[in-house]
Amino acid sequence: MDISLVGSINIDLVYRVPYIVNKGETLHSASHSVHFGGKGANQAVTASQLGANVHFIGKVGKDDFGEQAINNLKDRGVYIDSVQKEGATGQAMIQVTDAGGNAIVLFPGANFLVTPKQIEQEAAIISSSKVLLLQLEIPLDAVEKAVKIASQHGKIVILNPAPSQKLPDSLLKNITILTPNETELAQLTGIETTTEEDIRSACKLLLDKGVGTVIVTLGSKGSFYINHVESGWVQALSVDTIDTTGAGDAFNGALAVGLCRGDSLRSSIDFATKVAAYVVTQMGAQPLILQSVLK
Ligand code: RIB
Repeated sequence: MDISLVGSINIDLVYRVPYIVNKGETLHSASHSVHFGGKGANQAVTASQLGANVHFIGKVGKDDFGEQAINNLKDRGVYIDSVQKEGATGQAMIQVTDAGGNAIVLFPGANFLVTPKQIEQEAAIISSSKVLLLQLEIPLDAVEKAVKIASQHGKIVILNPAPSQKLPDSLLKNITILTPNETELAQLTGIETTTEEDIRSACKLLLDKGVGTVIVTLGSKGSFYINHVESGWVQALSVDTIDTTGAGDAFNGALAVGLCRGDSLRSSIDFATKVAAYVVTQMGAQPLILQSVLK
């Protein structure tokens, strides 16, 4: 079960607040904590805890945060030989509300120093893994390079288009599975995603551009998946939510594991739904995953 993961590594500075601060307002935070984060790192840690061999390709800063973030990945079983050090480590300032929602301000730092050249140097890792998993917290040209290498070798390419940005058709046609949330789907396609019919239409537009399967994550409403053969709605599980930060990342990491071990699309989505529901019951974006709870 080898997954190559091209993506971001951050330190998350988390503030618990009664609500998301308004413009011009100073708001007291009830508690402050520092966690390991970054969409790439969160997905990598999830997949590794679920038994995959995860090879991380990315960058941290030449600072204490960078050292700590690399050690954390190593401790969680992620292979870090392809993580380079340059500049300052990425940071995310995250407000988490009492209801579990969040708002994030991102300083990309070293993540934005990942280049196509660095990816090219790691072509052997990408071409020998079963799945390539990526997000959009690193420069798009680096994402494009990794996807090109993986698709030339017939690999499963999962792109979590977060944070959202317009994507070229030349990239979309090489994506096996695209996993936007509702907002990202709307931004990617220019189609409002208010109703189920809107969501279907937006997904169809992406399928017409060559995306293999679209899985739309809808938070407490579950998810919708569609390709040229099948489609369906998957219900979210009802849990006591503490912190939704990293729920999407857990979903993507688990999805990659399911597909990597040869499970069907539907059962990989069911598995990812279960893992995401479990991690929102804990603080931070990289909680411990107890396999026994997922049975
Ligand atoms: O998806 C959650 C992640 O987004 C956080 O860990 C934060 O680092 C930002 O990248």
